[in-house]
Amino acid sequence: MADRILVTGGAGFIGSHLCDALLARGATVRVFDNLDPQVHGPLAGNGRGPIPPAYLSPEVEFIYGDVRDREALHRALKGVDVVFHQAAAVGVGQSMYQVHRYIDVNTCGTAVLLDLLVNEPNRVRKLIVASSMSIYGEGAYTCPNCGPIYPELRSLAQLAVGDWEMHCAHCGAIATPCPTDEDKPLQPTSVYAVSKKDQEELCLIIGRAYAIPTVALRYFNVYGPRQALSNPYTGVAAIFCGRLLNGNRPLIFEDGQQTRDFVHVRDIVQANLLALENDAADYQAINVGTGQRTSVSQLAALLIERLGLDLEPNVAHEFRKGDIRHCYADITKARRLLGYKPSTPFDEGVHDLIAWVSQQTARDDVAGAYAELAARGLTLAAT
Ligand SMILES: NC(=O)c1ccc[n+]([C@@H]2O[C@H](COP(=O)([O-])OP(=O)(O)OC[C@H]3O[C@@H](n4cnc5c(N)ncnc54)[C@H](O)[C@@H]3O)[C@@H](O)[C@H]2O)c1
Ligand SMILES: [Zn+2]
Repeated sequence: MADRILVTGGAGFIGSHLCDALLARGATVRVFDNLDPQVHGPLAGNGRGPIPPAYLSPEVEFIYGDVRDREALHRALKGVDVVFHQAAAVGVGQSMYQVHRYIDVNTCGTAVLLDLLVNEPNRVRKLIVASSMSIYGEGAYTCPNCGPIYPELRSLAQLAVGDWEMHCAHCGAIATPCPTDEDKPLQPTSVYAVSKKDQEELCLIIGRAYAIPTVALRYFNVYGPRQALSNPYTGVAAIFCGRLLNGNRPLIFEDGQQTRDFVHVRDIVQANLLALENDAADYQAINVGTGQRTSVSQLAALLIERLGLDLEPNVAHEFRKGDIRHCYADITKARRLLGYKPSTPFDEGVHDLIAWVSQQTARDDVAGAYAELAARGLTLAAT
């Protein structure tokens, strides 16, 4: 692979693994990242500028910069054949009060990138953007009486009495989750999700109009080594690990039976490489998950067991406004168009995660993050 590749957000969790895989294939890799302190901790520098995290391969050309900085991003695009756009502010709850920052970094940052691709000479022949399952809102369900349904969020009145499961809006029966495919209408329920939908749609629209082959990969809940353990706003697996490393009980919302599709970062990398090497998915949005669902309580129990700890999670019977109950991926399209095949069963993936987590330390600021939400009335207790 003789390509010159730019990975925006490449110093992050997913981006850095992608860089490793691209380097292993012989690509020349440049990273453009502003080392967001919420992800990376306080900025550290030497005489030559800010220092990327130690896990980032020294073979990567690192450029410190913000995707909203047009001139800096313009320089980073020089000579680039392929762009993986991973840079984003990542945090569902936080986006509900840092409204402007999330739209600015995610939506406007993507707009800057696309503006450059459209208006400045360049040789980019492929754009792959990190989208998200959050854009679906609730997943797809089946009602025993009415068949397939795409429900909206559960009402506050329902949640306030601790009635957590999804009811069919037509007949009231409890609906069963089923795999969510790409045709499900998009119903984002957070500012973050709106911004991810913007990123996806902006890239696909510009890609189609200017014949720049573009793929949007809708990642489900990604976990694995290097996910920021001290960032209380992102992935639940990393947040639980950060708690556990400090001897604290994981905080579980609702009753813990809500389910997600936890996909190992290795499989996210696999999908990105397939999207690069293959044109069958060009101009499409594609789910990247495992097709399996796991409850948040199962996740917490497995992490506690594997870390050899003796404590119980704190099942709070509280809920966060905007949270969905169930969503897991239908990966038929990724299989068909890309030949994607999840490689890492959850059990094995957690083993890998724990091997890394055991070597880490973390600052646990979950209480602070929770207080931010509670102070704004974004969490509520069920009676
Ligand atoms: N982790 C998940 O479960 C998940 C799920 C769905 C989608 N995604 C998407 O995948 C991508 C990567 O996420 P991640 O989990 O690796 O998160 P991450 O926070 O580890 O990585 C994001 C990187 O982007 C950088 N960044 C943030 N703002 C920037 C800016 N203004 N300019 C330049 N760089 C900036 C950060 O410093 C960080 O290194 C994001 O687009 C995210 O929305 C992640
Ligand atoms: Zn029904």
